[in-house]
Amino acid sequence: MESKETKKENSVYYSYVANFSALEEENKLLRQSVDQLREELQKFKSNPLMVCEVVEVIDEKNAVIRIPNGNSFLVNVSSGCEKLAAGDSVLVEQKNLTIIRKTSTDKKFNVEQFVIIDKPNIKWQDVGGLKQQVQEIKEVIELPLKKPELFKKIGIQPPKGVLLYGEPGTGKTLLAKAVAAATKSTFIEVVGSELVQKFIGEGAKLVHEMFQMAKEKSPSIIFIDEIDAIAATRIEVGTSGEREVQRTFMQLLAEIDGFDNLENVKIIGCTNRKDILDPAILRPGRLDRLIKVGIPDEEGRKEIFKIHTKNMKLQNVKTDKLVKEMEDFSGAEIHAACTEAGYFAIRKNKTTITHSDFSEAIKKVRLEEKLEGEDYLRMFG
Ligand SMILES: Nc1ncnc2c1ncn2[C@@H]1O[C@H](COP(=O)(O)OP(=O)(O)OP(=O)(O)O)[C@@H](O)[C@H]1O
Ligand SMILES: [Mg+2]
Repeated sequence: MESKETKKENSVYYSYVANFSALEEENKLLRQSVDQLREELQKFKSNPLMVCEVVEVIDEKNAVIRIPNGNSFLVNVSSGCEKLAAGDSVLVEQKNLTIIRKTSTDKKFNVEQFVIIDKPNIKWQDVGGLKQQVQEIKEVIELPLKKPELFKKIGIQPPKGVLLYGEPGTGKTLLAKAVAAATKSTFIEVVGSELVQKFIGEGAKLVHEMFQMAKEKSPSIIFIDEIDAIAATRIEVGTSGEREVQRTFMQLLAEIDGFDNLENVKIIGCTNRKDILDPAILRPGRLDRLIKVGIPDEEGRKEIFKIHTKNMKLQNVKTDKLVKEMEDFSGAEIHAACTEAGYFAIRKNKTTITHSDFSEAIKKVRLEEKLEGEDYLRMFG
């Protein structure tokens, strides 16, 4: 039998042991949390790594990379880095540009974020005047997309692309959308000046991905508006920005050269400044069909006027007279005059639009055009 004394001693001993192991457990948890916090602290202290592209792999220890501003460097590859290939995305130390590791390849550049993809529903009837231009674009874009076998049989190669050029607001975008609609093509639209300004360091990649997507979603039309922003002749390529534009342009030429004439992808370039284009883009096999889209003549103006007044309630409107008053107007200005005439009627609380509403509207649009011209002269003249 244990004495009362021994029983007491034992219970004190057991309570010590229990306490001790509880404290040990707590100690362990605290150590873990110290470790975690240390790790966190280390993360805050370490420098961020830069994402670069491998241009060329020299050997296991050296590679040439391109940093985001476009400059290239020969750098070391850290020993733990996996095998590299040109075109890989890698993380590099900012100070000495040593390659640490590859970035995961599934983080693919998402081209759909940067371009407009559309299935336009513009019909040929929505395009006024421009008979010859419509005819030509049907021949060089629509026919090869719809009947490629015809070209194979005859043994000629349809053009890969066309250049639409001419004054602003004359219907170039409209024509491109109409041909995309007629061929049920995916319309991939990118604006040259945006390609240059918004996607610094990514322009060439974007061009590549865009062509890739066009092939996946074919039949498709790649529409490059303001193509002069990337395809202008450059005498000097000095700044890194200019080098970047040059690289984007080179990529565009390479992509155009890299696909077959009969693949279901066509390119339509647009510009108001054909005079400054680099002839390389217009060489045979590239955008070698030039279509001029100019200011409409009287007949054309009449057609465009009819298109834009189709849903308007007109009263005593002498169309021929108005069409004469709109001499030198572009399609966009004719459209603007029609909308403006509608506003004049609304302001007068009418539900029909009369001849004088149109006359006033035409004067207003002409005045605005003149003021814009004067502004332009003040700035650049
Ligand atoms: N030939 C036309 N027929 C009918 N509408 C036209 C025509 N030309 C222009 N328009 C009207 O003007 C608008 C602008 O035309 P569009 O965008 O096609 O011009 P653009 O030639 O592409 O001009 P920019 O060079 O400024 O890009 C059209 O949405 C349309 O409403
Ligand atoms: Mg346009």
